[in-house]
Amino acid sequence: MTQSSLPGPKARAMIERDHKVISPSYPRGYPFVMDHGKGSEVWDVDGNRFLDFMGGIAVVSTGYSHPKVVKAVQEQAEKFLHISSDFYHENWVRLAEKLDEIAPFKEDALSFMTNSGTEAVETAIKLARYHTKRTNFIGFTGAFHGRTMGAVTFTASKAKYHGGFYPLMNGVTHAPFPNPYRPVLERRKGEDYGEATVRYIEEEILNQIMPPKDVAGILVESIQGEGGYLIPPDGFFPALRKLCSKHGILLIVDEVQSGMGRTGKWWAIEHFGVEPDMLTSAKGIASGLPLGACIARKSVMDWEIGTHGNTYGGNPISCAASLATIELIETEFMKNAEVVGAYALEALKEMQMRHPSIGEVRGKGLMIGVEFVKDRETKEPAKELTDRVVDIGFERGLLMLSCGKSVIRIAPPLSMSRSEMDEGLKLFEEALTIAEKELM
Ligand SMILES: Cc1ncc(COP(=O)(O)O)c(C=O)c1O
Repeated sequence: MTQSSLPGPKARAMIERDHKVISPSYPRGYPFVMDHGKGSEVWDVDGNRFLDFMGGIAVVSTGYSHPKVVKAVQEQAEKFLHISSDFYHENWVRLAEKLDEIAPFKEDALSFMTNSGTEAVETAIKLARYHTKRTNFIGFTGAFHGRTMGAVTFTASKAKYHGGFYPLMNGVTHAPFPNPYRPVLERRKGEDYGEATVRYIEEEILNQIMPPKDVAGILVESIQGEGGYLIPPDGFFPALRKLCSKHGILLIVDEVQSGMGRTGKWWAIEHFGVEPDMLTSAKGIASGLPLGACIARKSVMDWEIGTHGNTYGGNPISCAASLATIELIETEFMKNAEVVGAYALEALKEMQMRHPSIGEVRGKGLMIGVEFVKDRETKEPAKELTDRVVDIGFERGLLMLSCGKSVIRIAPPLSMSRSEMDEGLKLFEEALTIAEKELM
């Protein structure tokens, strides 16, 4: 499907107004100006229809304006919009009970609700320091954890996120994220690349840079998002868990992007058979209403009254949206993510055989990355081609986002049907074919 020339006149006018009054720091992808959406489809202000492969950066888990989520929001809005976290209300309690039920550890879970992913990460950092009485942390290259001062210190996917903002938080050291497609560390015989990474942390960081007794936590995305939709090798998390337990270091997994059913399980960490001590959630947790959570083992969330709080935490509308979202994920969409995701992964692997620019296809559920290279041998990232595929896709009616150096992420609503996936993959391949002809 070809769109009328984009952006259309109404979109162009809106973008002009936007540029006059909105912070220029926002990294806008391409000139899409939203009018409305339904399920996995969206329309711009000029009436152009698009299929959505990015779900508002992996947020719109139940699709745009799912009637059950809209109803829950409307009903709660009629009752009260806000009461503040100084008081109590039922949806907040019900949501925390549900998070306790689905938390990826056997111990009881306590939750601290936030307004965003970065605030959930900030909460985890503070709690880790408070609980362990230690100061330092280990994060990973390529990570994205948010943009507030603590979280952005761990973020290491683009130097731009740090430039101009120093000094950042003290006491954070980064290890290379275990990317088996582009290894930077040496592997010993019998080790998988994840185990080699944990050995590096023990030998190079804990022995040579910071002693374990000063390390409060290791913060890591269960599947790296912004860094390129990277799945760590199977040996990584079990070895990391062992290392953390040995030294009394908290294992904190960031599930802001990978959690809430996206990978076919509630949390991506469940694919690796390991229990973290703490996790952060946001994005898909409430279908687009602002909400996040830091979920911790009860024995870890031991801070005293008044030590940490916020005004909007447990906002009643966000909690209502989240409860409806979680019910839909539980009854329908987590299974759908698994099935449609496996179908898409297979189709993309077939596509890889027809397109030399696809270096790797990887994913779990509806968290799929397609990495483009100039040459499969050298694996040189094909950044220009990646950007062109995204742009041509947009022109033909498909919303996509890139990540890493040259990866397109496929993170549609978890409700996407197989026929919609077929339509999207067809548009994706058309865009790729044109971009390859232009650039390869
Ligand atoms: C893994 C991860 N953590 C944290 C964040 C920050 O979330 P927010 O933008 O809601 O602050 C993001 C956002 O992309 C993310 O992908």
